[in-house]
Amino acid sequence: MKGICKAFGPVKALVDASLEVMPGTIHGLVGQNGAGKSTIIKVLAGIIAPDAGSIEIGGRPVGRLTPASVERLGIHFIHQDRLLVPTATVGEAVFLRHEIGFGAFISRRRMAAAANELLKRYFGIELPAGALIKDLTTAQQKIVQITRALAQKTAVLVLDEPTASLVKTEVDSLFAVLRRLKADGIAIIFISHYMQEIDQLCDVVTVMRNGADVGTVRPAETSIDKIIAMMIARDVGAMFPKRKAAIGAPVLDVSQLGLAGRFEDISFTIRQGEIVGITGLLGSGAKEIVNCLFGLQTADKGTIAVEGRSVHPSGPYDAVAAGLALLPEDRRAHGIALDLSVRENVSLASLGRYSSKGLIKRAEEGRQVDALIRELTIKTPGKDVLVRQLSGGNQQKVSIAKWLSCQSRIYVLDEPTVAVDIAAKVEIYGLLNRLAERGAAILMLSSDLLELTGMCDRVLVVYRGALTGEFSGARLDSDLLLAASSGASRPSEMEAA
Ligand SMILES: Nc1ncnc2c1ncn2[C@@H]1O[C@H](COP(=O)(O)OP(=O)(O)OP(=O)(O)O)[C@@H](O)[C@H]1O
Ligand SMILES: [Mg+2]
Repeated sequence: MKGICKAFGPVKALVDASLEVMPGTIHGLVGQNGAGKSTIIKVLAGIIAPDAGSIEIGGRPVGRLTPASVERLGIHFIHQDRLLVPTATVGEAVFLRHEIGFGAFISRRRMAAAANELLKRYFGIELPAGALIKDLTTAQQKIVQITRALAQKTAVLVLDEPTASLVKTEVDSLFAVLRRLKADGIAIIFISHYMQEIDQLCDVVTVMRNGADVGTVRPAETSIDKIIAMMIARDVGAMFPKRKAAIGAPVLDVSQLGLAGRFEDISFTIRQGEIVGITGLLGSGAKEIVNCLFGLQTADKGTIAVEGRSVHPSGPYDAVAAGLALLPEDRRAHGIALDLSVRENVSLASLGRYSSKGLIKRAEEGRQVDALIRELTIKTPGKDVLVRQLSGGNQQKVSIAKWLSCQSRIYVLDEPTVAVDIAAKVEIYGLLNRLAERGAAILMLSSDLLELTGMCDRVLVVYRGALTGEFSGARLDSDLLLAASSGASRPSEMEAA
């Protein structure tokens, strides 16, 4: 791809961007939120028509690309924000537009069997027969999308932040798959905000900044710090800034919580000023525990108490009414209104603060929204732009800003920094520290071990539906967390450690 330009109205998403990718190579693509990564990928996918530039595939110039012509050329995509059809079965999703059989003779059973075969072969997992896409977790959906590409003849595979909601073991199996494909001569374009992944996996990496490529380097020869410096052209400072929060009274008390078949006997307390992490593999129950706090699932045993009052959230509305600020994982479905402006989204959760006698104090609201846009470095042409028009990571920042602008005392965050660039991560960590310093209690579900050890006072590990470890102080270490979440050490041994 040479000299690609693309403007959305006044926003120049790509300015003379070039990308050259070789067969049998894993080619990283990095840059801050809004740098233009997804846009250049969508140009290659035939989803966005560029304003200028040329594209050659296999040495031949190609004209106007369409999603169908691109697929015929063997180029497959795992997009950041294009989801699977929620009502399709796993088999239908994997073989979409490549159904086994014909017309009325399409064989659902054979497709399901073939899909499961691929899932087992590549990822070592089995999904319940007949499961619908909407019943799967985000991680399982990603795996199904990747399997769809593997089911077809592929020359180029493009993955836009594929690991964003995967846990360590799933990331490992994905990497094993990608290395196998690379050995088969497939070219892989891999977008990620995780620098360790880029370092481990990629042969070369192209850095984008403000819509242009600013350099292509080999991670084996170039330090991560150098690559980050190319991305942001400034210093981010300490990744995990120190906080000075006084630990106060208990505010969230979970006691003997249980949900049949998911988890049992879960008890923990979070105090004012504390940041507590919770982690566990896919299916461990960690996610479901947090969902019960959100009111997305309902526990059938035990109690949840907020500042001494017992609560039974049967939906996010109840949880919010009980005083919890929630950042759900699937922000596009639950956390953000795509067709409202940045301003409206940010002030949604805290409208009470800006209204007096039914009138919204626009000026004050505007100042607060501007301040958050600055603090979180949200890349947007202005606060009245629709959230739909922002890049994936910037949408994420808006959903975080929304809760930071309301002064809640308990925050429950599900993967708060997934898909967010490194500079914004540091901003978010700083904001969480400030919330804790103001006396907020924070529970954060995360699969990012670095983030857990860097940010939390304590981390709870869930394994097979039970709390199997609590790590703090010198024992708050990513190797110990990883071992505990994969069941490598039993609780008694961890106590002794
Ligand atoms: N449909 C659109 N309408 C208006 N602006 C858009 C549209 N799509 C992207 N943009 C803008 O183009 C710029 C580049 O966006 P892009 O999605 O390519 O970023 P990105 O590098 O993928 O970022 P992220 O890491 O956050 O996913 C951003 O400023 C974004 O707001
Ligand atoms: Mg993107």
